[in-house]
Parts: sequence; structure tokens; C-alpha cells
Amino acid sequence: MTTVPTTTQTGTPVPSDEHSLTAGANGATALHDRYLLEKLAQFARERIPERVVHAKGGGAHGTFEVTGDVSKYTRAAVFQPGAVTETLQRFSSVAGEQGSPDTWRDVRGFSVKFYTTEGNYDIVGNNTPVFFIRDGIKFPDFIHSQKRLPGSGLRDADMQWDFWTLSPESAHQVTYLMGDRGLPRSWREMPGFGSHTYQWINAEGERFWVKYHFTSNQGNVEIDGSDAELIAGADADHYRRDLYEAIAAGNFPSWDVHVQVMPYDDAKSYRFNPFDLTKVWPHADYPLIKVGTHTLNRNPENFFAEIEQAAFSPANTVPGIDISPDKMLMARVFSYPDAQRYRVGTNYNQIPVNAPKAPVYNYSQDGAARHGFKSAEAPVYAPNSLGGPVADVAAAGVGGWESDGALIRTAATLHSEDSDFGQAGTLYREVFDDAAKARFLDTITDAISGVTRAEVKERAIWYWTNVDADLGAKLRVALTAVSDLSNSITE
Ligand code: HEM
Repeated sequence: MTTVPTTTQTGTPVPSDEHSLTAGANGATALHDRYLLEKLAQFARERIPERVVHAKGGGAHGTFEVTGDVSKYTRAAVFQPGAVTETLQRFSSVAGEQGSPDTWRDVRGFSVKFYTTEGNYDIVGNNTPVFFIRDGIKFPDFIHSQKRLPGSGLRDADMQWDFWTLSPESAHQVTYLMGDRGLPRSWREMPGFGSHTYQWINAEGERFWVKYHFTSNQGNVEIDGSDAELIAGADADHYRRDLYEAIAAGNFPSWDVHVQVMPYDDAKSYRFNPFDLTKVWPHADYPLIKVGTHTLNRNPENFFAEIEQAAFSPANTVPGIDISPDKMLMARVFSYPDAQRYRVGTNYNQIPVNAPKAPVYNYSQDGAARHGFKSAEAPVYAPNSLGGPVADVAAAGVGGWESDGALIRTAATLHSEDSDFGQAGTLYREVFDDAAKARFLDTITDAISGVTRAEVKERAIWYWTNVDADLGAKLRVALTAVSDLSNSITE
């Protein structure tokens, strides 16, 4: 095997990878050992900040192929019949840090980047169709309550349940999370959802509201709480390993991609607010329409370069797709690029994994670590009379919606069936069978028994009673039994 000489970052051969330059064998290290300095300095800068949420994850490259025909709803090239598009997918957990166990109970992130001919399109969703809150201004508080106490550095049941029960709009998502679906066996065996309502615009400019569903072709398989704990201890990277090994073995996981489509005008009079992220749209009202299949078929060659530096954002839309008046989604459109400028750097979109396959024409320039640039003759401002790129509203294919009124801070206008607890109750009563209901009661009893403040515990019983009166009554009995048991042990 021929070897090449080790070099510095600037390509000059180095004398040693084993011995620093010293004054004699036992003397002081020379400050001008530039390779030693470079090696240590580079090492100290190997880490970038972890994602403030969804820090632990993994992912792979893939392909999305359109097999249906949704062209009457959107003009987006990525969704036209027969289109095949390269993709990148990242899965994650929300609250844990980089090293945290994959199988801790948590919502799982489900992000897909489509490198379309019209620029990058990202769906940054979860394995649940709903979320804990419905206004982005609450997101930092919500996350603080789920992460760690500033003093002890420990996670804390009191603050988790205090926040959730003071934010009753969380009930539907917490019911999901504490149910069987809160512990998938692998990323391959769970569904994905865009969760929010998005807007599609067809070639005639007609608008529709849509929700995305990714249905796993591996089936949905869950594990129980005790198995999840055992796996967490034995292999913190269980999900990451499972995905990597499946793809390496040629066992490519896939998801069928469906949409629910709501005619634009239905939104005003639908029985609940269709832009409320704490609600699902019943399939009886808006059935699933198949769009195509997404398959993961290539592992990253370098985890850091391709997964850690990947930057997904709900702001990345393409012509024929737009956002909706969901206050969460509007906040996210700001938050992701902002986080990525800080986490990865100003020019994060020039890194290969984030760079679009479509050409980039605009008047942005410079910034740290920029390496792509225009010719010296290209104009650097708009408008110009030098033939530079020109913004084109028709090419942008944007949607939009009508809105008026004074600037105010308030909940969205009420629809007749808006309620915080209704769909959570339906999930508990009509989707969970008796065994799932029993496991659910065990899980919430266990979680709430970690609460020390009586007021928060009482509010938790109120919260679950609102979801289902019988559940609330059973919870009170179960919590009393746990506290009697622990009192008898400590007496
Ligand atoms: C207003 C509410 C929200 C805010 C402000 C917010 C903010 C963030 C931020 C700052 C990141 C880190 C981005 C990065 O460093 O690359 C992130 C990651 C993520 N968020 Fe959110 N988030 C919100 C709600 C949601 C919702 C509702 C979902 C799912 C429906 C979601 C799914 C994700 C996922 C999957 C990631 C990881 C992306 C990846 O794989 O790199 N977030 N979020």
C-alpha cells in the first residue's frame, strides 16, 4: 500500500504525528511547532453547538418517487406524476441532548429535504400529527419545562406537568406521547406527519389546504416502557444503529406519502380551526390521497458533514407550496434559519448537504466561510440595468390568504367545535383498546407520581378528568395507591 505524507491544513508535509518539537528530549515545547498548534486548535473546534431541540438523531439519503396524480392541487415539480427526487431524511428525539438514549419516551422528529428542480423543499415534522401548543411564543417556555432545571441540571416532573396542565391545548399530544405510540421500536417502524396545515397552489393559481402523512411500509411497531428502559441502558444509539444497519444490508425502509386536501373555502366554516396544530382532520372528512413513496437507500459517508450539519426548515418552500395561518408555523419560518446561521454558520446553505441542486441567483454576498461567488462582472444590487436576476412573482408560485383587523394578541377566532380536550378524549376512548388504556394509565400514573407539588398533582387529575372522566377517577385512585405505598415504605 502506498502512503502519502501527512500535511498541514495548507498542504505542506509535516515532520511527525507522534512527537512535539521540544528543546532537547526533556525540554519545553516550542511555540513555533505549527503543526502541533494547528492540530490542537482544530481539535478544540471540532464541535458545533448541538441543535437546541432535536439534538440526538440520525439519518440517511433517499429517493422520493411520485406514483399518484395530485397535479390538480399543486404545481410543485416535486409532486408532478412520475417525478423522482433525491432526498435527505433526519430522525430525532426532541428533549434529549446529543448522547441521550434513543428509546426515552419523547416525540420523534421526522424531517425530509427534497432537492427539487425548483429549489429545496423541506417537510420538518414529527411522528405525531399534533403538537403541545398552538402559538410559537410559548415554544421556548415549553422546551425549558421539558429539559433540565438550571440548578440541579436534572429533568423535573413538577415543571413538565405544571406547564402541560397550565397549557390544556397540550392534552391531545400528551395523550399520544404517553400512549403506545410514544415508544416506537425503531425509526423505520413509525409514521411521519407534516403536522401543520400547509397550502398548495395549482397551475391555475387555485389554493388548497393540505396535511402530509408518511405511512411506514415496515408497519408501526411499538415497544413497552420496560423494554424501552432496558434498551436505553444497553444501547443508547438503538435507533441510529437500526437504521444504519438496515440500509447497509440493503434493507431499504420506505414510507408511502399521502395528503389530506381541504378546499380553500372550507377552512372558514369547518367545525374546528383547521390551522390549529393540536387537532387532526378526521379522515372521514378529508380522506388520504396517495402521492408517492419515499425510500431511504444510502447511508451518510460522514455523519457530521451530512447529518449534523444538515439544516431543515419549514421556511424552505417551493413554487406551488406555501405556509398557512398557523401561528406555530409562522414562528418556525423565522426560527430555523436563525438557529442554523448560529449553529452551522451564515453560509450554511453552501455546505454540500444543504446546497440546492437548483441554481442559486440572488444578491447576497460575503459572510463567514463563503466559498461560492459570482463573477466579478455580475451586478451586486437590484434593481439593475445590467441583466442580473429579476424577482418574478409568477415564478415564485406563492399562495397567501385574506386577513384584516387590528394588530392584537389573542387566540384564533373560535370555530364551533374548538376544544382543548375533545380530540384527546376521542383518542383515548375510541382508538386505545382496553389493554392500551391500562398501559396508558400506568404510564401517566408513573410520570405524575414524580410530581412533588400537591397543587400540580391535583391539576394533573383535573387535566385527565377533562380528557375522560373515568380516566381521571382511575388516575386519582392509582396516585393515591402509589403515595400510600411510598408512605408505608418510608414509615
Ligand atoms: C414555534 C414552534 C417551534 C420552534 C420555535 C422550533 C424551533 C426549532 C429549532 C430552533 C430547531 C433546531 C434547528 C437547527 O438547529 O437546525 C428545531 C428542530 C426541529 N424541530 Fe422545531 N420548533 C418548533 C416546533 C416544531 C414542530 C411543531 C415540529 C413538528 C411538527 C418541529 C419539528 C422539529 C424537528 C423534526 C427538528 C429537527 C430538524 C432536524 O432533523 O435537523 N418543531 N426546532
